[in-house]
Amino acid sequence: MNQQELHQLASKKVEENKPLIEKDSNRLQFHLMPPVGLLNDPNGLIHFNGLYHVFYQWNPFETSHGAKFWGHYTSKDLISWQEQPPALVPSEWYEKNGCYSGSAVEHNGKMYLFYTGNVKNKNNERETYQCLAVSHDGITFEKKGPVIFLPEDYTPHFRDPKVWQQDGIWYMVLGAQTEKEEGQVVLYASMDLENWEFKGPLAGGNLNGLGDFGYMWECPDLFKLGTQDILLASPQGLEPEGHLYQNLFQSGYFIGKWKPETNRYVHGDFIELDRGFDFYAPQTFEDNHGRRLLYAWMGLTDENEAFQPTIANGWIHALTLPRELVLKGDKLYQKPVAELTQLRKTHDFHQQVSLDNEAKSWTAINGTVSEIYIEVGQHEVTCFEINIRENVKLSFNYVKSMITLERKSFKDGSPESRSCQLPILKELHIFLDTSSIEIFLNGGQEVMTARFFAEPTEQTITFASRGKVDLWIEKWSLQL
Ligand code: FRU
Repeated sequence: MNQQELHQLASKKVEENKPLIEKDSNRLQFHLMPPVGLLNDPNGLIHFNGLYHVFYQWNPFETSHGAKFWGHYTSKDLISWQEQPPALVPSEWYEKNGCYSGSAVEHNGKMYLFYTGNVKNKNNERETYQCLAVSHDGITFEKKGPVIFLPEDYTPHFRDPKVWQQDGIWYMVLGAQTEKEEGQVVLYASMDLENWEFKGPLAGGNLNGLGDFGYMWECPDLFKLGTQDILLASPQGLEPEGHLYQNLFQSGYFIGKWKPETNRYVHGDFIELDRGFDFYAPQTFEDNHGRRLLYAWMGLTDENEAFQPTIANGWIHALTLPRELVLKGDKLYQKPVAELTQLRKTHDFHQQVSLDNEAKSWTAINGTVSEIYIEVGQHEVTCFEINIRENVKLSFNYVKSMITLERKSFKDGSPESRSCQLPILKELHIFLDTSSIEIFLNGGQEVMTARFFAEPTEQTITFASRGKVDLWIEKWSLQL
């Protein structure tokens, strides 16, 4: 199908499904979602000509994965978003099975998108092309076709270009799989964004003593924060280790030093970015205020996907809130961006409370779309917990210094949990949307993200303790 036909079919799909989708009580209020169909990775994040641009992997035709489009939203303030026509549709031979993930940069007043053209050939084998598309206005894009072909020693699992400029040179990292089936990040360099030179592997499979670390690394991102070079990657194929790597696929980061001249990257351990259930393929960009902002897909390709109730209404998945990254010592902290305070509609609760071996709730704290801030004061407790809408339970075990997030599984409602070691619990900052929760612990030291699906009538939020604890609680109702 040509570009025009694909555009028309997608808008028809959006229009047809509007009535059903608008009625869905799980539709989120302040998160980016697909207008119809399936959303996955955030792509092409950039601040360009006064607007924030968020592109995303989009299958408008089904709630399963397929030949992806690049959906597109723009915003002046990271809060209210405008839907734009899809930026890329899979109309050409080199992308016929999907305009896969990639990134955006600005050069000479134009926006350059780099993405992976995904192709299944007639023998059903995968082919991969790293492609370029250029735009003057940030809305319509002219495709320039492939600029990078698969190098030797790699399988066609070679994708997700992330491009940036440093000291006058353009660099690109790509997620890759070696012929030995090790996940890697590889580097390219260019002077003009069109001719690219392969510089070899930068991290992953057996480099830097990492050993066996997954069979494929998706969506890499390399950037400077302070004096450090941070590498984000989403490795596939890590086995669970205690409370680590509990999701099917992981997203995390390394802190280290990268030498462009030699392409040597010396780094520390892999650290997971999020300790909840639904977080994958994060991407970052530097905005016009010099902030390093991150969005991720608030979902995952795993067995839960098929059981999400929104499928019945023709859509699935969303992006996380935008988060600002700050490096503190050897840890990346994630903070909800300051602009989110604009969502505060009413300040329903701000009070010092005490729990003494009891469960308590306050009507003013109940609700479905809200921000809750809690500071933990004096305590002599073994356990402190918050129960949200009869669906999600967050508990801190003082004996084990462990935070646990429990939710009802999408499949059969049985409880499932994710836990994370936290030396001390000082504060919790919770963003609740109709069917999502993002919990920022101790100023973003750890974050736990999850989707959950509760009855709209279930609105109660209950606090409970074993022992005595003083809390400072604030709550706002949020509205776009
Ligand atoms: C990550 C990913 C990318 C790929 C895209 C396809 O979720 O698998 O590696 O480019 O999704 O939609």
